[in-house]
Amino acid sequence: VTDKFVKVNGRTFERDEWTNVTPNVLSKMNRKLHLQPTNPISIIRQLIESHFNNYKPFHSFSPIVSTQQNFDDLLIPKDHPSRTKSDNYYFDKNTLLRAHTSAHQLQGLSSGEKKFLISGDVYRRDEIDASHYPIFHQIEGFAYFDNTDPVSMRAQIEAGMNNDTRANNIDLLDDTVIKPSNPIQGCHSPENVQLVAADLKHSINSMIYSLFADEPDLKVRWIDAYFPFTSPSWEVEIFYKGAWLEVLGCGVVQQPLMNKSGLDNKIGWAFGMGLERLAMVLFDIPDIRLFWSEDKRFTEQFTPGKIQKFKPFSKYPPCIKDISFWVPKGEWHENNFCEVVRGAAGDIVENVQLIDEFTHPKTDKRSLCYRILYRSMDRNVTNEEINAIQEKVRDVVQDEFKVELR
Ligand code: PHE
Repeated sequence: VTDKFVKVNGRTFERDEWTNVTPNVLSKMNRKLHLQPTNPISIIRQLIESHFNNYKPFHSFSPIVSTQQNFDDLLIPKDHPSRTKSDNYYFDKNTLLRAHTSAHQLQGLSSGEKKFLISGDVYRRDEIDASHYPIFHQIEGFAYFDNTDPVSMRAQIEAGMNNDTRANNIDLLDDTVIKPSNPIQGCHSPENVQLVAADLKHSINSMIYSLFADEPDLKVRWIDAYFPFTSPSWEVEIFYKGAWLEVLGCGVVQQPLMNKSGLDNKIGWAFGMGLERLAMVLFDIPDIRLFWSEDKRFTEQFTPGKIQKFKPFSKYPPCIKDISFWVPKGEWHENNFCEVVRGAAGDIVENVQLIDEFTHPKTDKRSLCYRILYRSMDRNVTNEEINAIQEKVRDVVQDEFKVELR
């Protein structure tokens, strides 16, 4: 960021009265958490992509988009509050960091795929707390069908639906009540909209049930909503640990958007879902900033393809002490050693690692050096207190294993 220009990834933008991108968000643009295989954001993305296995996944569209893509293509009115500087990160009047993956709906449609997913980092100016961060991640889902007579439409939709029975508490023709406040578009036939909505509901409920497979009494609720680019529209919430959590927005795609892509005789649905909140509840991650941690204790904690509970680690600095000694001939059991260290020092020991080992050529005696990492979960430790503990460890190790301390 210079005075006159903003330069990013080989592109240069001349500052104008709209420019408000910050060095902080720009510095995170290339992190691509949704593509780091062991980041929970990426694990959720991959699980969703495998669930929607016949959808084409896109995950590398540039987050730098035009106002045309982010707003106009989606029929968002010129005076809509979501366009304001206070809600977005603008490079200039016409260019911003995408505020949602919906910015790529037309790009997805132009690929010719009838069913696709778009994932990526999205950017919004927002409040600061444990569950809000100016950058988060979304996955967009999109599917469209031939807008024919209801009988062939029904056959078409049934053929493409997975047979997830847990999602079948949603009937194919359910009570997507047509109300003036959440209307069917004038150009659509109510029967066909109900079929498309039924497919949308089945697809989303089935995805949610597969992510929450280990939660037997998960509740999902659909609430009428409004988006300029869908009608009717809904928000989906899940009841988890005593609270309703909003996870996605969705609806039947506004026909002018389809028509712009030359798909006048098709009818489709779309959803956009935030990945952070979902990952926070599924992995028990208490703070949204953890996803950005480059600490190995975070990045190496998770396995692709697996939802597992986060194991908290300390945010306080470590104090490191080495201990080396000659061991008597015969067996040496490292586990027993660790046990004794733990016994002498307690939970303040985070890690014990063998860092050096050699055998004296003449005496044939073996020397070992272990590195002990001390760290408290809830406070800074002082060097003096750790020295005292280390002394105790040395005494106990000497007594217990009859080693010769060096
Ligand atoms: N883009 C919307 C948001 O970020 C979500 C959405 C996507 C709603 C697709 C409807 C259809 O809030």
